[in-house]
Order: sequence, then structure tokens, then C-alpha cells
Amino acid sequence: MKKPVIAIDGFSSTGKSSISKIIAQRLELVHLDTGALYRGVTWFALQNCCRADGTVDIGELFKNFDHIHLEFRNIGNELVLFLNEINITKEIRSNEVSENVSNVAKQAEVREFLLGYQRKLAEKGGVIMDGRDIGTVVLPDADFKFFLTASIEERTKRRYQELLGLGITADEKQVADNLAERDRIDSEREVAPLRQAEDAIVIDNTDMSKKETIEMILNHVKNF
Ligand code: DC
Repeated sequence: MKKPVIAIDGFSSTGKSSISKIIAQRLELVHLDTGALYRGVTWFALQNCCRADGTVDIGELFKNFDHIHLEFRNIGNELVLFLNEINITKEIRSNEVSENVSNVAKQAEVREFLLGYQRKLAEKGGVIMDGRDIGTVVLPDADFKFFLTASIEERTKRRYQELLGLGITADEKQVADNLAERDRIDSEREVAPLRQAEDAIVIDNTDMSKKETIEMILNHVKNF
């Protein structure tokens, strides 16, 4: 039986990844959280600071990507991200990575590198991929495209809770500022900005539970 290709885009902390994960389980699809890939590259950049002032010379670091091997492995039903064989699943959620990821993700070289990786994974179909440019750039021919949005207050609450759950100390104001700044950089960048595809179904889930959002998406894809 042919399985659908589903693109889920939207703002930070709208639940894209956790919702995609559950839909993947329900429909037996492969799930790819593309934000984790950008976070992985960012973590790598932070580990390899090459300027004296502690900032990263991204141009130098990303002249080529031969030294970066990213891989998702399914361990105990969880997607675990390995970079050069190091499990970085928790590290990529740190505040430091969150504060730097949009600046790494706006680099054309980084996007090109990850574009090939993402498309390859979708080649066989039966995938649900979440990110910012999946419906517009990565998988423009996806069978279904959804664009998730929610108020900044609600998204702040969700990210704050997520961080607490991961045992990461956070300040609510800092979380809100980081979300707003990331939305700004992600939407304004030149290459593959965060944008709703023209044929995407928009879901504002400010007042919806995760379960309700999942049911709404499943309802749209049920007749595939
Ligand atoms: O989904 P997330 O918050 O983990 O994503 C982290 C960052 O990665 C986000 O601020 C922008 C970037 N990103 C992107 O540019 N394109 C994607 N397809 C996914 C994420």
C-alpha cells in the first residue's frame, strides 16, 4: 500500500515534532525532525569554535561537510541523533544551541548540505517531515502540507515546559525572547525562509491540545 509524504512546517514550539512523531507511529511512517539536524550542525559548530573571541567562523568550518556525519537511529521507539557516532540528542536542546541555531541555519552551505540528506530520506515515500521549509523547498510535491502556528505566549509556555522536562533550567523571559528572535531570523533569511506553502493547510493550535491537532491532521490524510 502506498504511503503518504507529509510536510509539517511552522513556528517554533507549535508542537511540530511531537505531533509528527505520534502521526508517524499511527500511520507507520518514518519521522524526520529536521530542526534536530540544524541543531546538530550548530552543536558541532559550537564545539569547534575557531575564532579567538569564541565566536564561530562558519565560513571556515563549513567549507566542506566531509567531517560531519549525522544519523538518526530508532532506539526504543525514540529517534536518537548521532553526530560522528556521539549521541547528541540532549545536547541539541540546550539554550546555547537554541540561541545559535538560526544563525547557522541561515547559511546557504548548511542548508544545501542538509537538503540532500533530507530528500534522500524521503525518496521511498512514507515519511512525515517537520521543519520550516519542508512544504516550500525540501518536499514541494508532498501529498499533504500543514503549517502550524500558535500565539507566542502559548509557545513560550510549551518550550518552557519542554526544557523543564529535559532537566534544563530556563528563564521564561529568555525562552520568549529566544523564540521571537528565532522566528524573526528564520522568516527573514534569504535562503529557504520560514514560509507557509501556498497549498498548505494552516492550523492555529493556540487553544487546541496536542491530541486535537493530531486528530485534525489525521482527518485530512485519512483518505489517501
Ligand atoms: O524545530 P526546531 O526549533 O528544533 O528548529 C531549530 C532551528 O532550525 C530553527 O530555529 C530554524 C532551523 N530550521 C530550519 O531553518 N529549517 C528547518 N527545516 C528546520 C529547522
